[in-house]
Amino acid sequence: MEHTWYMNVLLTGATGFIGRLIHQEFNLAWNITGVSLHGDSSRNIYKCNLSDLGAVKALKGLIIPDVIIHAAGDKDMSRCELNPFTAYNVNVQSTVNLVSVFPQARIIFLSSDYVFSGARGGYAETEVPSPQTIYGRTKVCSEMAGSLIDTEFYTLRLSALYNNEASFIKFLRESLSQGQQVDCFDDAYYSPTYYRHFLEVLKALVEYKQLINRTFHASGPRTSRFLFAKSFANVAGFDVDLVKPVSRTSSSLPFLVSDLSLSSERTLQELNLHLESHESFIIDMEQRSE
Ligand SMILES: NC(=O)c1ccc[n+]([C@@H]2O[C@H](COP(=O)([O-])OP(=O)(O)OC[C@H]3O[C@@H](n4cnc5c(N)ncnc54)[C@H](OP(=O)(O)O)[C@@H]3O)[C@@H](O)[C@H]2O)c1
Repeated sequence: MEHTWYMNVLLTGATGFIGRLIHQEFNLAWNITGVSLHGDSSRNIYKCNLSDLGAVKALKGLIIPDVIIHAAGDKDMSRCELNPFTAYNVNVQSTVNLVSVFPQARIIFLSSDYVFSGARGGYAETEVPSPQTIYGRTKVCSEMAGSLIDTEFYTLRLSALYNNEASFIKFLRESLSQGQQVDCFDDAYYSPTYYRHFLEVLKALVEYKQLINRTFHASGPRTSRFLFAKSFANVAGFDVDLVKPVSRTSSSLPFLVSDLSLSSERTLQELNLHLESHESFIIDMEQRSE
């Protein structure tokens, strides 16, 4: 069922939040070559602007990848809104360059729940995308361009990824440990992705020889920010009454939608994986930080 040789993996975005997690987890199992826009010589991460076709072609001198994990991109939604051309170059042109330079590699492209509008939630892998933001549109464009050009192109959509370093978790821990009240939206639903679950899905996508489908979801169960924060407070031993519900309609924050949750039923079935509750994930996260 699985590849057994020492795989050559090109990891883009290796300096980023997700790229670092992938590098740490699989560095011994796979032969990983990491690249990023600015590089990091202290960690052997090469500098490469993926929007530049010439720079991507030059990567052939470094590695002939069996698999490319494409985790580079601009996820700053406000910046993408302000400059769609730059967003296109970083999020779409980079993908087109990778698929055209490495047609023989399996490519796993990290996409987002923002390919959907967020009006209804429970979006399945088969749902037609309906992005409402420039960021979301660049992700859809990239998904489509990749799968149009390359038969070994796979999309892996994530919701907000959490571990102990994620900004929402850090904010909750800091505020609750100081006895401060935290206001959380009880009408903004999503399906945050626990990082260990993401790594499990990614491993299967990299190592399985035969994949039936081209689009996969790595997400957690549907929840609101309020319910998630309550679960966190409970498991981490903080006062749950410090977590208060507020409405997203009272907020001036952009890009808040009513329900952006993903369903990952088909992914779990094909990859033979199981999804835990957020409580179980948070328990695991707390145990790992001890
Ligand atoms: N984090 C999440 O919760 C989440 C959720 C859904 C989807 N995603 C998607 O997952 C991917 C990774 O997210 P992340 O949180 O790890 O992002 P991140 O921390 O912002 O990291 C972005 C990475 O992309 C690299 N990069 C940016 N422009 C580049 C270019 N032109 N050429 C080469 N590399 C470039 C950066 O390199 P430098 O550091 O050298 O500048 C950095 O390594 C993104 O595509 C994002 O859309 C993330």
